[in-house]
Amino acid sequence: MAGVRRSAAWFGASGRAGMIYRSWMRNQGFGAGVFDGRPVIGIATSASELAPCNAHLDRVADAVRRGVWAAGGFPLVFPTMSTGESLMRPTAMLYRNLMAMEVEELIRANPLDGVVLLSGCDKTTPAMLMAAASVDLPAVMVTGGPMLNGKYRGQDVGSGTHVWKFEEELKAGRMTQEECYFAEGCMARSNGHCMTMGTASTMACMAEALGMQLPGSATWPAVDARRFEIAQDAGGRIVEMVEEDLRPSRILTREAFENAIRVNAAIGGSTNAIIHLLAIAGRAEVPLRLGDFDALAREVPTLVDLMPSGRFLMEDFCYAGGLPVVQRQLLDAGLLNPAPVTVTGLGVADTVAGAENWNPEVITSTGEPFQPAGTGTAVLTGNLAPGGAVIKQSAASPHLLTHTGQALVFDTVEDYHAVSDDPDLDVTPDTILVIRGAGPKGYPGMPEVSNVALPAKLLKAGVTDMVRICDGRMSGTGYGTVVLHVTPESAVGGPLALVQTGDEITLDVPNRSLTLQVDEAELARRQEAWKAPDNPQTSGYTWLYTHHVEQADTGADFGFLHGRRGHAVPRDSH
Ligand code: FES
Ligand code: MG
Repeated sequence: MAGVRRSAAWFGASGRAGMIYRSWMRNQGFGAGVFDGRPVIGIATSASELAPCNAHLDRVADAVRRGVWAAGGFPLVFPTMSTGESLMRPTAMLYRNLMAMEVEELIRANPLDGVVLLSGCDKTTPAMLMAAASVDLPAVMVTGGPMLNGKYRGQDVGSGTHVWKFEEELKAGRMTQEECYFAEGCMARSNGHCMTMGTASTMACMAEALGMQLPGSATWPAVDARRFEIAQDAGGRIVEMVEEDLRPSRILTREAFENAIRVNAAIGGSTNAIIHLLAIAGRAEVPLRLGDFDALAREVPTLVDLMPSGRFLMEDFCYAGGLPVVQRQLLDAGLLNPAPVTVTGLGVADTVAGAENWNPEVITSTGEPFQPAGTGTAVLTGNLAPGGAVIKQSAASPHLLTHTGQALVFDTVEDYHAVSDDPDLDVTPDTILVIRGAGPKGYPGMPEVSNVALPAKLLKAGVTDMVRICDGRMSGTGYGTVVLHVTPESAVGGPLALVQTGDEITLDVPNRSLTLQVDEAELARRQEAWKAPDNPQTSGYTWLYTHHVEQADTGADFGFLHGRRGHAVPRDSH
């Protein structure tokens, strides 16, 4: 068997090259016996103190390492780039593709037969899955797990979600700055990623729903001993997967993506999952379109009552039984395909067969769901978004889902922030805030700025929501009636670039439309007069990004990264 393994091209080599490959590794104290042809397993860790959600992943790597040794493999931990959502500017999303490139190349360039991917914060999970799909070596993901529930003054507070709430309380004068400082520490009180159903929790669930991590793996809190137990299990399992040659191309099928989209609807997952799943599908050579998300999610009720749409947090979801319970309920209702194979080697139905619901308040049933089918994330089209736009209905206000109002337009989010506290701002609760220049190319990087806080004038008057339309993204922890990912973005001349203050816009979510009430002749005149903004990027990574990033409706990957490039052993280095 050893001869057919990739790693044998390095560690099984004779002569000078083999000596080099083995000798330098032995400076770490590995005995000669580890080069006997056993599977070499890379443990890719995105641990970083600059990505606080991933800061503990070295401990998770230790647990994986144990599992690999115990199963007869040779584990080698290596660091990858890390994209921390909370610190990186202009946005971690600018670097998702860079991280995906880096992880892909590291796996291919090294003597690995399989890989365990350790991720956590929002973008690190899709970046690693994109890489794994392109390399197509056996791969298991272990996400780092959510933080413990935030606790402030006897109440559960959710990461992200309560940042927006506290900001509103502060602006409305109901909370002091001192109280806010104190609450900061209460919100993030353990290792782990955001513990709301934000993008990190969503993508952890997506990795599990796609079949790329072990059942139950998405929800164990980062500090729970069972997080490390399941990491050890993943280490054992990857060794078997190498023997079985179970690769992402067998797991990441069209059916698996359909299942993941349905699970995303059932958990009330982040809108960002749409972009990331499209990008992963692009790597896995699976045809998937934006419209599929609406069509597949429409029949699925939201079962999980988690912030930002609901009340609970990831710890509660975990103790209720976690994602397998949701999958099992969807299977029972005929809403999930039982067949797609997971990293367990079994089909989904067998993977989650034993799941039991320990708290029906947190995980509701398809018979009496938290929110009925058809109220999940909707895909809108119309003359304002010919390539599509999305809105998370469960995080929106029902009375605004059908709404016509006058646009108040800002070319940049900074332009809005400069006036948002102005008591004389010409704005009513019916106004539609249009924020543009926040797309993949325009910002650049498509940041999570779309759910801007309401103007102070309205907040003080007790208004809690208004329609906002933007070509950027929204944090998965955010909420509000916010139309996101408007495509094409304004920076490439999408119709969003042509809206003027005072224009009427109609949002009609039940009919899935977004309409700028301006006649075609006038729009043609405006298009004629429109000039593309200068791209100030003349070199460096951001230049590469702005020249190659695609629009949100196909996943905002680089065009040249689509598809599988495989894991053929590269030419010798010496
Ligand atoms: Fe890292 Fe939310 S900031 S998951
Ligand atoms: Mg986020």
